[in-house]
Amino acid sequence: MRVVVTGAAGFIGSHLTQAVAAAGHEVLAVDARSRGASPANLAELARTGITVTDCDLVTDDLAPLADADVVLHLAGRPGVRSSFGEGEAEARRDNVAATARLLDVCAARGPRFVLASSSSVYGDADRPCTEDDPIAPGSPYARSKSDAETLVQRAADGGLPVVVLRYFSVYGPRQRPDMAFHRFIEAALVGSPAPLYGDGGQSRSFTYVGDVVEATVRAALAPLPPGTVLNVGHPVTVRVRDALDRIGTLLGAPPPTVPKDRAPGDVTRTWAGTARATELLGWTATTGLDEGLARQIAWHRKRAPGAGAGIGAGQGRRDRRTG
Ligand SMILES: NC(=O)c1ccc[n+]([C@@H]2O[C@H](COP(=O)([O-])OP(=O)(O)OC[C@H]3O[C@@H](n4cnc5c(N)ncnc54)[C@H](O)[C@@H]3O)[C@@H](O)[C@H]2O)c1
Repeated sequence: MRVVVTGAAGFIGSHLTQAVAAAGHEVLAVDARSRGASPANLAELARTGITVTDCDLVTDDLAPLADADVVLHLAGRPGVRSSFGEGEAEARRDNVAATARLLDVCAARGPRFVLASSSSVYGDADRPCTEDDPIAPGSPYARSKSDAETLVQRAADGGLPVVVLRYFSVYGPRQRPDMAFHRFIEAALVGSPAPLYGDGGQSRSFTYVGDVVEATVRAALAPLPPGTVLNVGHPVTVRVRDALDRIGTLLGAPPPTVPKDRAPGDVTRTWAGTARATELLGWTATTGLDEGLARQIAWHRKRAPGAGAGIGAGQGRRDRRTG
């Protein structure tokens, strides 16, 4: 099969691209350096023989991308906190306008289309969310994702075989530098505190990236009805401060943190109901938090000469988007 992956140099997209290529498919991997494609991930992909085509989905010609059996659309502007203020226009550009343009070119050729959406569309959860629950997006990011879902559902009405995957707080090697586990682990390795927003009592369905990749590949291949929405998340929720403790235990010392006000748009709980993904894909997240965190920690140690030597090593490394 010919498979297009957008956002191929991103955290999740880079793992997905490698998995699709390793399964023997022809991959057209695209990302935009001008939109934040990670140089480190580009280099890692190059090491495994994968070249990423530089393409901004909002400004460049997308016709070549429609010539595919499957389009896995992961490109976008993630992050709830950063979507407030000036970030809102960026979120709308890369999550909504980019999706609209990509769907336009796909409409004529009809590839199977998978959208990476987000658990944030649900808002706060007091029980496991199911895909038929009403949504309550509470941030510009969440609204941009729910608008992208609407575009995709319209395309389904027009006959495009589309699937929407709602990812829940993904972690693992190559996690984005703005995400909590990345900051906590780096804080411990570098010895400079990471922000802890609110009291750390917020719970998330933290989901290991390998499990997310597996669900995405299955969704790309399964004969799902057009417009199917699936939660891709670990069914067990964990409080941020408990995850912080686990990281401390795995590293042998607690990551230093500095208290910050609860961030706008930060929900108290996300919680993945995964019965539909299990029924339709035979998928469930299998990686436990300790196992996934250990793999992420190993990646941090390996990628940062000096930081791997122990707590306090690797002074002065910047938070950056090259991880
Ligand atoms: N990481 C998570 O926990 C999580 C949770 C829910 C949903 N998602 C969604 O999954 C997708 C991947 O997330 P991630 O964490 O890997 O993010 P990421 O930022 O690491 O990857 C996104 C990639 O998209 C690219 N991109 C952005 N705008 C583009 C454009 N206009 N044209 C071409 N490329 C563009 C960026 O350069 C980046 O490499 C995103 O759509 C995100 O909203 C992620």
